[in-house]
Parts: sequence; structure tokens; C-alpha cells
Amino acid sequence: MILGVNIDHVATLRQARLGIEPEPAMAATLAILGGADGITVHLREDRRHINDRDLNLLREWVPVELNLEMAATREMIGIAVKKLPDLVTIVPEKRAELTTEGGLAVQRNRRQLKDALNRLKGAGLPVSLFINPDAGDIAASAEIGADMVEIHTGYFANSRGDRREKELARVIRAVQQATDAGLKANAGHGLTYVNVSMIAEIREIRGLYIGHSIVSRAVLVGMERAVREMKDLLSQAGGAKES
Ligand code: PXP
Repeated sequence: MILGVNIDHVATLRQARLGIEPEPAMAATLAILGGADGITVHLREDRRHINDRDLNLLREWVPVELNLEMAATREMIGIAVKKLPDLVTIVPEKRAELTTEGGLAVQRNRRQLKDALNRLKGAGLPVSLFINPDAGDIAASAEIGADMVEIHTGYFANSRGDRREKELARVIRAVQQATDAGLKANAGHGLTYVNVSMIAEIREIRGLYIGHSIVSRAVLVGMERAVREMKDLLSQAGGAKES
């Protein structure tokens, strides 16, 4: 099972100051050193975190799977066809949302998604559709020619008790249905260090795509070292003054 690391929130932190750090490409390097099998970025219409320059830089050198999450718009399809990421994951996108809220309504948007798939696949790009664990959407994804689906695990991640068991069963069923339909099955959204094992036990899953929890942990486990390095600089400067 591969791990794709979503580094959008490294760019979110950079955009908090509209500056140059932290650099997403450096975060990608460190993620790869840590064993990431892939790097994911979501290029949003409003460029609220990852921007075109980030995508260019990452495309130039990321040596593992570069997964471009995007809406199925003309602009994004044009960018994907030009930049040629290793995988395109089509997601629904709303301007006001904090993160991708739900899966694609594949059955309702069959025509538009099929057109997008044809253009992307015509350029040789493998395409995954981010969908809810729903039998109808899985069947429709296979029918319109998707290579893979990414099953939305957010409902599982946000539920508790009996509800969680039911949501886990839905994910398991969806992965099975996708595999039976000839689709590769990925999963992601809301996965954390606490809940990931339950999903990682599903053997048929090709890959998990995780962002927020990994970036959050990176901030915490890096804090002590970051402060120590700043203290070292202070004492070196203070030491120089005294001598
Ligand atoms: N997969 C998709 C399609 C997403 O949109 C996101 C969020 O950007 C993720 C996975 C990662 O979700 P999280 O940040 O909750 O791990």
C-alpha cells in the first residue's frame, strides 16, 4: 500500500504571511526522505495554498508519484495536460469550503466527467475520481472510463461508536466493489495516526492519501528542534558579543 502525502497545508502556512517559507518543495523532499511514495497537491481555482509556481517546481523534480488534485474545469484540464503529473485526481470544489467536503456526484455529472476523462486520458494521464463510498458512483466511475477511484474516508473519520463501524463497513464494501469493477481503489480524507490502521487493514487498497494529520504532526515533532536551533543562534550571537 502506497502513501501519498498531501502538502497543501505547508503552502497554507506560507500564504499566512504571503512569504517564501515554508517552501512546499522542501517539504516534499523531506516527505520523500521519510518514505512518502507520492506527493499530492490540490491546485484550487482561487490558489489559496498551492500555486502554479509550486506545481511547476514539483513537476520538475519530484521523483515519486506526483498526484494533482483538481476540479474538472477547462482551466485545470489545460494545466494537467501541459504539466503531466503522474496521476490526476478529480475532486469536487466549492469556493467557500475549508477542505474538499464530499465525493464527486459521478452519476449526476456523468457527461462532464466523461469529457474530462477523455481529454486527460487522451494526454496519457491516469485519472482517479474522488468519490463517496457509494455503489452507484463506483459503477458510474468504471463506466465512464476512470482508472482509479479514491474512496472518501471522511465520513468514517468523523463518526464515533456504532456509526463508525457502519462507515468502516461502507468503505470496505466500496473498495471491494471498485476492485470488482476493475478499478484500482485508493482511499483518503480525515485519516489520522489514531484511525489509519483500520483503513490500512483493507488489503485491496492501492494507496492512502493523507495530508492534514501528517502536516500537523510535523509541526509538533519539529517544534523542539526548531526552538533549540533558534536558542543556539541567540547564544552564539551573545557569546560573540561577550568576547
Ligand atoms: N484526498 C483528497 C481527494 C483530498 O481532497 C484531501 C484533502 O485535500 C485528502 C485526500 C487529504 O485529506 P486530509 O488532509 O484530511 O488528510
